[in-house]
Amino acid sequence: MAAIQYLTFFNLKEDPFRLTPDPAFYYPSQEHDEILQSLNYAIEQKEGFFLAMGEPGTGKTTTLKVFIESWKDKADIALIMTPRLSPEEFLLAVLEDLGIQHSASGKNEMLKEFRDFLVRSSQLGRRVVIIVDEAQNLPSETIEELRLLSNLETEKEKLLQIVLVGQPELGPRIMSEDMRQLRQRITVRTNLMPLTFGETVDYINYRLIKAGRGNAVFEDAAKKRIHKITAGVPRLINMYASRSMMAAYLEGSRNITKKHVKLTEKHFGISQSAVRFKFAWVVVPAFAAAVVAAGSYKFYLSYNEAKSTVTEAVYAETPIQQIDDPADNRLEENSLDNSSSAQSEQPKQQEIPKLLVNVKSATLRSAPSIDSKAVAWASEGVFFEQLDTAEDSKSRKWFKVRLADGETAWIAASIVKQAE
Ligand SMILES: Nc1ncnc2c1ncn2[C@@H]1O[C@H](COP(=O)(O)OP(=O)(O)OP(=O)(O)O)[C@@H](O)[C@H]1O
Ligand SMILES: [Mg+2]
Repeated sequence: MAAIQYLTFFNLKEDPFRLTPDPAFYYPSQEHDEILQSLNYAIEQKEGFFLAMGEPGTGKTTTLKVFIESWKDKADIALIMTPRLSPEEFLLAVLEDLGIQHSASGKNEMLKEFRDFLVRSSQLGRRVVIIVDEAQNLPSETIEELRLLSNLETEKEKLLQIVLVGQPELGPRIMSEDMRQLRQRITVRTNLMPLTFGETVDYINYRLIKAGRGNAVFEDAAKKRIHKITAGVPRLINMYASRSMMAAYLEGSRNITKKHVKLTEKHFGISQSAVRFKFAWVVVPAFAAAVVAAGSYKFYLSYNEAKSTVTEAVYAETPIQQIDDPADNRLEENSLDNSSSAQSEQPKQQEIPKLLVNVKSATLRSAPSIDSKAVAWASEGVFFEQLDTAEDSKSRKWFKVRLADGETAWIAASIVKQAE
């Protein structure tokens, strides 16, 4: 009842900050859009495995739902949301989700029916995609089953594509020695980052407009506060924005002020010592190192970025592992060390020009073309040595760069700047 009055008060048709991953409310931040584009590209190119990771509440499921909406007429898609399943249970869930008639008399029968379905779909020119959300919960033997399923192919092409989406702990699992056969097949992976301040402001306005525009106004200071305490994580933004609106409503105010946000913080029981939500920078660089060691795909994360994005946003309702401060200090020291040693060694290094990534997430490719395969990802602030230049068919400039493990890749000139 209160909810209805609240909507009437703000002249809204629906709740703007619901916690469900509703594609109708999808806000295309740069990060979400890049993941969506990579996913579209992977499916168009029939790449076998796609892996995407992100911290809780960053919008993985929402992005998947948008992807499914856009592909549902061209592809048969099985979406498995609760993957704590044995290989047989998993196969059964896939068959059922794809609407495949099956006798379910045994795994071999099911596999045969599944293969027949794949061949039929391929003849009709349809993609078949298995998407596993919360893939960090997949048992190892079910991941192995997925790998075997991905072997289903004709002489000409892959019959099945698999998309694994989950929380960052999925990365080290897929990269582990046990999974080496699988990791060689993963063709794209990426990590979903939270919204910037500008995007947080747009996101709040966007959701209000989607919910019927109404007359609620979030003051600038309120938006700033929300970004600060949520670190730009969409689910947290929804929680705080929604509660702040309720606090304003209870006061009869259509303006949502910083004071209302602060009241909300009290509601969630926040204090400096509350459970802290931090981006798993300590985990991500460790994962990056594992990936670099493993070859194929790589992440490059700048320590500066790591430090600046570690925030003190709080998440009162879901317990999240606390990462100790000393690690932050280590990151900080590393970042200082790196920059000072870079400066002192500069005279020696000047022969090879350096490039600095100046977008949040940059893709490195196997050749100087947007259509070539993505081979690595780098975040803002990462330096590369420039080895060569080239132009693509549209006269866009590309730089050949050296990766941390000595291999080379290409990066578009538009997303780097020349470092002094
Ligand atoms: N790009 C976006 N546009 C609009 N809303 C978003 C976006 N990203 C996330 N949200 C909102 O944030 C909330 C959490 O999103 P979602 O459930 O997709 O996150 P998740 O990464 O799948 O989280 P979890 O790891 O807990 O499953 C939802 O209310 C969703 O609507
Ligand atoms: Mg989810």
